[in-house]
Amino acid sequence: MNHKIKVYENVFEMLPSEENPSPLVRINKLNPRAEFPLYAKLEWMNPFGSVKDRAAWALLNDLESRGELANGRGLVEPTSGNTGISLAAMARARGHRLLAVVPNKVPLEKKVLLKIAGADLEVVSDELCPAPGLGDGSINLAKTHAKASAKKYAMPNQYENDKNWEAHYQTTGPEIWKQTEGKITHLFVTLGTCGTVTGIARFLREKKPAVKVIAVQPTEGHDVPGLRNVSQLSVSKLFDASLVDDILEVDFRLAYTRAMELCQNEGLLAGPSSGLVFTGALEIVARDQQGFGVMIFPDNIFKYTSNMIKHIPGLGSGNQP
Ligand SMILES: Cc1ncc(COP(=O)(O)O)c(C=O)c1O
Repeated sequence: MNHKIKVYENVFEMLPSEENPSPLVRINKLNPRAEFPLYAKLEWMNPFGSVKDRAAWALLNDLESRGELANGRGLVEPTSGNTGISLAAMARARGHRLLAVVPNKVPLEKKVLLKIAGADLEVVSDELCPAPGLGDGSINLAKTHAKASAKKYAMPNQYENDKNWEAHYQTTGPEIWKQTEGKITHLFVTLGTCGTVTGIARFLREKKPAVKVIAVQPTEGHDVPGLRNVSQLSVSKLFDASLVDDILEVDFRLAYTRAMELCQNEGLLAGPSSGLVFTGALEIVARDQQGFGVMIFPDNIFKYTSNMIKHIPGLGSGNQP
């Protein structure tokens, strides 16, 4: 493998690391304050298309190395899409199958992509981000499959597995530290399983305790795939409140309009969770006036065209002036 000329023997060598970080790109037209530069970390540049490449790879390697996937045993995992897409593609390339248990509200594009990536799909009626505790919730259903058919399935369980946050402690955190040459003052993230926030924040706090960690969440009843509102947060065992300075709640519709602004002004084809985190970052730029911000942009817009049509008036209609 050679990261300089980007020649690889297999796709896994392309996964992000300190030597091969996902790009940091500065926001220009849409950030009014030169004294507070904001950089977006483009996680959609990862080989399977999202921030979840990192956790999926760590979860899969852990199961493989412990011999949990021997004798044709596959995986079962609840997912709102991105983990499943990364995990399915990786698992199939390694010779394992994945049953992805997916909430019904997940965008059509993600369901189709899961199948294309090679997952077997079970769609259940559930919250947008899998919520435990519900009889028919996707997390419980995946757990039931793993218990009832233990020979057939191992369940990584991204909501409870320390390998999830450790992946970010080992890769995303060190990448940001190196890429900003230690200048980072504010980290902006969204929350799903909370592996991203916990892993990066633990790493950065060890390097620079003053780094502020700002989590941005959509308003309740939201329609932003992959994310959780405050009321749904307690379900992730990986959430560590001591690592988070501020939790901002942003009208979820802004996730869509801001994503569109990023596309049309910065040339960044950002998805809705990136739009949301950017909205929160702008609030803090106005409040703190000075700093050096890094925002995690989890994935790009291509998987969300049906959601964009739902939330941006006129986008889905025929002739435009
Ligand atoms: C689009 C998107 N944004 C953000 C996140 C949040 O990442 P994490 O699960 O590490 O909290 C996810 C997770 O599934 C996601 O799919």
